Amino acid sequence: MAKSKTAYVCSECGAEHNKWQGQCAECGAWNTLSEIVLESATAAPPASRRSGWAGKLETPKITALKDVRSSEEARVSTGIGEFDRVLGGGLVEGAVVLVGGDPGIGKSTLLLQAMAKMSLTLPSLYVTGEESLAQVAGRALRLGLPMDGLQALAETGIEKILDHAVAAQPKVIVADSVQTLWTDSLTAAPGSVSQVRESAARLVRYAKETGTAVFLIGHVTKEGGIAGPRVLEHMVDAVLYFEGESGSRFRVLRAFKNRFGAVNELGVFAMGEKGLKEVPNPSAIFLSGGSAQQPGSCVMVTREGTRPLLVEVQALVDSSPLSNPRRVAVGLEQNRLAMLLAVLHRHGGIVTSDQDVFVNVVGGIRVQETAADLPVLLAVLSSLRDKPLPEKTIAFGEVGLSGEIRPIPNGEERLREAATHGFKRAIVAKGNAPKSGAFKAMEVIGVERLSDALEAASE
Ligand code: TYD
Ligand code: MG
Repeated sequence: MAKSKTAYVCSECGAEHNKWQGQCAECGAWNTLSEIVLESATAAPPASRRSGWAGKLETPKITALKDVRSSEEARVSTGIGEFDRVLGGGLVEGAVVLVGGDPGIGKSTLLLQAMAKMSLTLPSLYVTGEESLAQVAGRALRLGLPMDGLQALAETGIEKILDHAVAAQPKVIVADSVQTLWTDSLTAAPGSVSQVRESAARLVRYAKETGTAVFLIGHVTKEGGIAGPRVLEHMVDAVLYFEGESGSRFRVLRAFKNRFGAVNELGVFAMGEKGLKEVPNPSAIFLSGGSAQQPGSCVMVTREGTRPLLVEVQALVDSSPLSNPRRVAVGLEQNRLAMLLAVLHRHGGIVTSDQDVFVNVVGGIRVQETAADLPVLLAVLSSLRDKPLPEKTIAFGEVGLSGEIRPIPNGEERLREAATHGFKRAIVAKGNAPKSGAFKAMEVIGVERLSDALEAASE
């Protein structure tokens, strides 16, 4: 038998190395390399190098690009508006979409609901490797989903799955979950990185050759997992993450990568007794609401995707016993926090070098835009002084390294959204403030420098 070739794949970033090393040379993570077996030398070249357009060995034909039918034209709705939104306006023919998330977050539920809706118009196949057919059917029944057109298969062997697919010709396939898939062309154990990667590569190739859309469900383990979906991110067209906080019924579906749409789009759902319900107008659901304003909290209007969203940024600043005090950001970028604290020191005269600083975005959502800069600093200041910000105040704005507050896009739309929810006062960049008197719904304080913003927040 020909000798199998091996490689070492990082479960964090998916980078491939020829030999084992303790640290991934690509992303710097430690102990994340695991050995994968590439197909034996007698077999065709490894699937990673074979999938997609390079699939055929015969010389490819040159075609005028204008004569090629774009797959983007053939978008179909998943039947769930929030899901379509995150996909960039529906599912593209032949697209492979990885849906990742913690166990129990609701991935199977979401895909079952979408598949049931899609099966009304498209032949659909739900492949389950984790639950039995009876469990899947039971859930569909309980949720009152249409089941007539939905085919299901309890199978984990990729060869058998593809045989069934060739016979049944579905236009959409769900593989739940990709971690259960295995191929008999590899000797590695099911669940290992090489099995998951190879099985996924087969499905990707099938999708591209037949124009079948494929959803791969993948669990993310807290440790990154040996067969975590990270290694799959490079292979697929879109990576969506399904997130939420335990204890909250709200779930956020976010595009992390999307060849067919924007990546900052959010879909919001609520998990209830009847499965996942869309929250088409989610603007204020992440506010803690209720009780009086607490120290260390600042509400901001973020604009993830195409909708304004009111979120609460919390900070806890506490004297640190450590010589290197902690800076922890949850839902925000860690490095940016360190930078903002430096600006606060240099241009606001406020020292936090002897303090631990924790910041968090309430509701388990992530804010990536720089509009969060000012709210973060105001929350930090409020916690440090143990004094709440003035009632009904919101803030947004980018903070520059020289202490200037910069305007951000769509300022007026954000202000209007805040006013709709009863906020009375806004601290924003001068460039985002409407001309005086133009905006009657709330008092808008336009600031140019960090020191002005700190003053406005201390009143
Ligand atoms: P599931 O879709 O199985 O999660 P995943 O596939 O991501 O592991 O969802 C499991 C959780 O969702 C489970 O804890 C129960 C809850 N749930 C509801 O609250 N209501 C429902 O209608 C359903 C189907 C699940
Ligand atoms: Mg599941």
